Amino acid sequence: MATTVAFSAPGWTIPNFLEVRDGHLAIDGADALELVRQYDSPLFVFSRPRITSNIGRLKAAALSVEHPIRFFYASKANSNMAVLKTVLESGIDLEVNSGGELFKALRAGFRPDQIIFNGTSKSAAELDEAVTAGIYAINVDSIYEIGLVEEAVRRVGTRHAVPARPARITLRLVPEIGTRSHLGLQTALLTSKFGISSSEVLEAFRRGLQNPDLIHVCGIHIHVGSQTPDVEPFAEAFRSMWEHLVAIHRETGQTLEHINLGGGIPVNYLRDRSQADQFPEHERDMLGADLEPSRVLSEALRVAREAARAAKAEHLLDQTTILLEPGRSIIADAGLVLTTVLNMKQRPETGDVWLLTDAGYNIMLSMNNYKWYYHTISATRAGEPHESSYKVAGPLCDSGDVYFDIERCGRLPDYRKLPANVQPGEVLALLNCGAYSLAQMFHYNGRPLPAAVMIREDGKAVQIRKRDTYEDLIRDDLW
Ligand SMILES: Cc1ncc(COP(=O)(O)O)c(C=O)c1O
Repeated sequence: MATTVAFSAPGWTIPNFLEVRDGHLAIDGADALELVRQYDSPLFVFSRPRITSNIGRLKAAALSVEHPIRFFYASKANSNMAVLKTVLESGIDLEVNSGGELFKALRAGFRPDQIIFNGTSKSAAELDEAVTAGIYAINVDSIYEIGLVEEAVRRVGTRHAVPARPARITLRLVPEIGTRSHLGLQTALLTSKFGISSSEVLEAFRRGLQNPDLIHVCGIHIHVGSQTPDVEPFAEAFRSMWEHLVAIHRETGQTLEHINLGGGIPVNYLRDRSQADQFPEHERDMLGADLEPSRVLSEALRVAREAARAAKAEHLLDQTTILLEPGRSIIADAGLVLTTVLNMKQRPETGDVWLLTDAGYNIMLSMNNYKWYYHTISATRAGEPHESSYKVAGPLCDSGDVYFDIERCGRLPDYRKLPANVQPGEVLALLNCGAYSLAQMFHYNGRPLPAAVMIREDGKAVQIRKRDTYEDLIRDDLW
């Protein structure tokens, strides 16, 4: 009698997106090994349908709270032009952090009134570009910077021999709110480099009102940090912004148009829990956070509504648009890296089996500077049990180029679980690599940067970044 072995899908699978097909990893139906054969390794693979559905999830969250909400994708997370185009076609707006990102935004087709510009140290040239374009808002990071924006408006007016329109500015605040993310990813603490302190808000606002022909203060902004696992910091931040908005209104009679709650909606990097017990508890909670954007919005609005009712200022809340700047939650799980095992060794003294791949931290910087976890599977044998332990490392000439925590702080598991008997030539996949990776790559060790492809709705791959050649390594050197 024939026996059927029930196949239970591994925890990392996502129906119709990440699946096991014919034993291989398939991304939107595209065979991972076929992609490597065609585009070489290492390779970034992005899913257009996944980006669109992540944006759809945010839009659904906005509809669920019945309050005016606008999303500005944080392009620092990934500003590849095809990614920006996909975001544009999904119908949301864009946050930029430099003149370069502004240039890319405009080139991708975003209208100026769809763009917000953040940053602690904008140059005069960058401010001129933002003013000339007439973007939706420049988020100023200090009281001093208000004067810099005014100067930019004067300069642009002189250059064009007609007064420039007043620049729209938002005050970025830092109300001392902690989160359970890595310290380097927290941005609302007074010890961080960002923003204007709560004690200076009214002074900043008064300063912003001094020259209405040059600037118009349209909102306030906060970003509590990236990968924020809990709803409370968002709610606390929103309440704090709201209280400032009311105080500003009482003091000056001005009504701000928006409160910008920044980014930080987390991504679940531990969808597959098979190795979760190897993380310290706080790291596990942070990496495995599953926080629905609708909860963030409804909780923020709930606390603000309570405060508004108490202050008899509900009409003000109704007039305030909420802005969000999600980056990671749009692009992280829509991208992965395919990497090939090139070499292996077994240490007789430790018994460790080492797999040496072609993907180092020069293409996934977070793996090194935040010891970030990217769940790793065999793309070649995706359906087999992943129960054998390996030390895995990249190709860079640096002891820190390993897929575990070399500093022994326990932030990453010491071993990766893969099928038995992995050999050179096997293709591995690092999942959830779409954010803060491609945008942070560099040529260390003379390594040409990888290609990237995007899988379309019809399952076809289109190349969205060419692979570097050796010529690209010397392109910018003058000799
Ligand atoms: C001001 C600002 N907004 C938005 C973001 C995007 O955050 P995330 O990618 O966590 O959504 C960042 C990144 O940390 C940021 O600095």
